[in-house]
Amino acid sequence: MDPWLRFRQDIRCTEDLTYFNVGTMGPMPIPIAERLLNLWDEWNTQGPGDPARYEAWHDRVEETRRTLARVLALSDDRLLTLKQNVSAALLFVLAQIRLAPGSHLITSDEEHPALLAPLMDLARRGHPVHVIRFSAEDMLEQIRVILQGHSVGLIALSHVSHMTGRVVRAAELGRLARDHGVPLLLDGAQALAHVPLAEAVSAADFYIVNGQKWSLAPAGCAALVLAPGAVERLDLRWRGPGRGWHTQYPQNWEGGWDWVDPAQFESGTQPWPLWAVWKDALDYLEVFGWEQLFEHQHRMARDLAAALAIVKGVELAATPDQGTATVAIRLSGWAPEALQPALRSRGVVVRALGAPVRGIRLTVGAYNNEEDIRRAVDAVRDLAANGTLPS
Ligand SMILES: Cc1ncc(COP(=O)(O)O)c(C=O)c1O
Repeated sequence: MDPWLRFRQDIRCTEDLTYFNVGTMGPMPIPIAERLLNLWDEWNTQGPGDPARYEAWHDRVEETRRTLARVLALSDDRLLTLKQNVSAALLFVLAQIRLAPGSHLITSDEEHPALLAPLMDLARRGHPVHVIRFSAEDMLEQIRVILQGHSVGLIALSHVSHMTGRVVRAAELGRLARDHGVPLLLDGAQALAHVPLAEAVSAADFYIVNGQKWSLAPAGCAALVLAPGAVERLDLRWRGPGRGWHTQYPQNWEGGWDWVDPAQFESGTQPWPLWAVWKDALDYLEVFGWEQLFEHQHRMARDLAAALAIVKGVELAATPDQGTATVAIRLSGWAPEALQPALRSRGVVVRALGAPVRGIRLTVGAYNNEEDIRRAVDAVRDLAANGTLPS
């Protein structure tokens, strides 16, 4: 069977919906959803607190860590710590980053509230925030000018914009940040299984991914990658007991426990089946081949953008021109907040975007097909004739 057709048949919501919102939440393929339920059942029926079996859950999580390390092409000197979501990983870094009093921060105009919220907190603590234009050609130049004029404590922005799918020139940005001795945080929430990301991971001091979007894992899966020296940039307060069981009281309270383990940032009992099944989701995708997967998604997204572009009243706000699978449009006469539910009433699932795009975003998975494109374009064409705003 055609592998893409098999993929589609594994995605249940494609039966009833034209699902163009993997950028918010990826649907789990049937084998992954079944595996998750089985793991949960196993955990429960085998006696969830049985010390004889508990170690096996830690081992499964280590398999996920190893799989992620391979997919992200991590060098051995990078630490990968699991988190529940990108928001928690962002808070982990931004609430603990060592900043000189009054030092400035750099971010962009296309960031998710999960990054904006902790940045606002830092701004309230006396760290002015500079907002560069993410999609501008001179994006790096804007950053260079700020770095030359101010003492900057952190650059924190998306690797892939959740609004436009635009991809940052990570290697150059990494060099620029390093040349100025400024740590770089890249929010890769939109990157994993969407675009190649090894270069960006190695350019950043802090790189963050989640599992629930293109990598089709359940919500509850995310990871923070720390470059060598990145831990020292944090004033660590969120350090837990890590893996295993420490029966010994510390002899030296100030010194803490004298071991380093990425799990020490994972504090406490976790929903192990969620983290274990992330490996299975990555294995499922890897069978297609990452290059083939990216190419297939990208081709669908290009076809979608081309078909939408010729609908009267449509303006393309973002095209998948960097190998991505994200399209954004504006429709004359329609506010995005009204267009999203109007499309949903026709079975098409998309996401409304605020400024600077002020449109709707369609994110494409490799399970989407020509039929989905036709249905989405028909729905948009239909609505184009019935705008709710004066155009
Ligand atoms: C760029 C970006 N950052 C952060 C987030 C928040 O991710 P999470 O729900 O895993 O915290 C998202 C989710 O849509 C996102 O797209």
